[in-house]
Amino acid sequence: MSNRYQEVIESLREEPKRWLVTGCAGFIGSNLLETLLALGQKVVGLDNFATGHQHNLDEVEKTVGADKWANFSFIQGDIRDLEVCRRAVQDVDHVLHQAALGSVPRSLQDPITSNDVNISGFLNVLVAARDAKVKSFVYAASSSTYGDHEALPKVEDRIGRPLSPYAVTKYVNELYADVFARSYGFGSIGLRYFNVFGKRQDPNGAYAAVIPKWVAAMIRGEEVVVNGDGETSRDFCFVENAVQANILASLAQPEGVNQVYNVAFNARTTLNELFQYLAQTLDSQGVKYDKPPVYRDFRAGDVRHSQADISKAKELLGYEPMHNIVQGLEVAMPWYTQFLR
Ligand SMILES: NC(=O)c1ccc[n+]([C@@H]2O[C@H](COP(=O)([O-])OP(=O)(O)OC[C@H]3O[C@@H](n4cnc5c(N)ncnc54)[C@H](O)[C@@H]3O)[C@@H](O)[C@H]2O)c1
Repeated sequence: MSNRYQEVIESLREEPKRWLVTGCAGFIGSNLLETLLALGQKVVGLDNFATGHQHNLDEVEKTVGADKWANFSFIQGDIRDLEVCRRAVQDVDHVLHQAALGSVPRSLQDPITSNDVNISGFLNVLVAARDAKVKSFVYAASSSTYGDHEALPKVEDRIGRPLSPYAVTKYVNELYADVFARSYGFGSIGLRYFNVFGKRQDPNGAYAAVIPKWVAAMIRGEEVVVNGDGETSRDFCFVENAVQANILASLAQPEGVNQVYNVAFNARTTLNELFQYLAQTLDSQGVKYDKPPVYRDFRAGDVRHSQADISKAKELLGYEPMHNIVQGLEVAMPWYTQFLR
């Protein structure tokens, strides 16, 4: 653990803060919620269960225990409703805005809803947080903002043209955040997540991410479908690294604010390698999978390769990811084997 993260964690334990986590019933939001509650923080959660689940909240309750769960209050509501957002930010110190409709294919299928939630909803949360004068505003940005810019590793200030409506929405978030800093002096930090994975990432549905989708298929003995030739690569980021980045960003020094940061591990894993890692990790946990993967067409809107330069987050936030992909899979797999059997 970096010295800075240790210092921040200790300060939070000594002097708990009040947080808003939007999208708290989703994958990353529920992991943030669990860590914050475990640290004795007070948390308001906002979610409309569009893609999140009550069972994620139930699991967090079971993990943190009744005393810490008592520090949580939940608002079931929609970020497209400004009044709901205003209610959610009342007396909050730190906002972690995660609520959005993820998935490139979903946005290609229905760009209007992705736009409403990811742009208008974002703007509502931003306006509510600005008016409530919160101490920090950290939001989920995305590596999809690099679009068709081919250089590797990805450096924050060099982006290309977006390849999907989803990527447009996430880039517009960054533009609004920047304009709010310059127009109203309202500071924020965008975290460009790169393929986050871990427990509670939804394995079901048409828009599931690759890791939970493949793990589910392997556990169920179904075929694993690879989009393209399997040499597409990603910088897979274990969710605990993303949680660390959010907490560090919320308590960033002034020079670290009004910035966007890559949140990843700085490694590149091809889909073919991922397939091997998943089969090996499952095997070590008693699940055998010996079918070969099935290759299909490339998927529209996907970038070919992705790898992040994370030196900016290291320097300005003190970010030090603690799990590489294999370590993260080892931690996450027992959850999948338990959840999916
Ligand atoms: N998982 C990744 O690899 C990844 C990568 C880049 C960016 N992101 C971003 O991180 C954030 C969290 O993603 P996730 O993977 O946890 O997805 P998720 O779908 O598990 O979580 C999103 C949560 O937001 C909620 N939500 C959606 N629309 C809402 C609305 N209108 N009002 C209130 N709540 C709403 C959903 O119900 C869900 O609980 C999103 O902003 C996503 O775009 C994720």
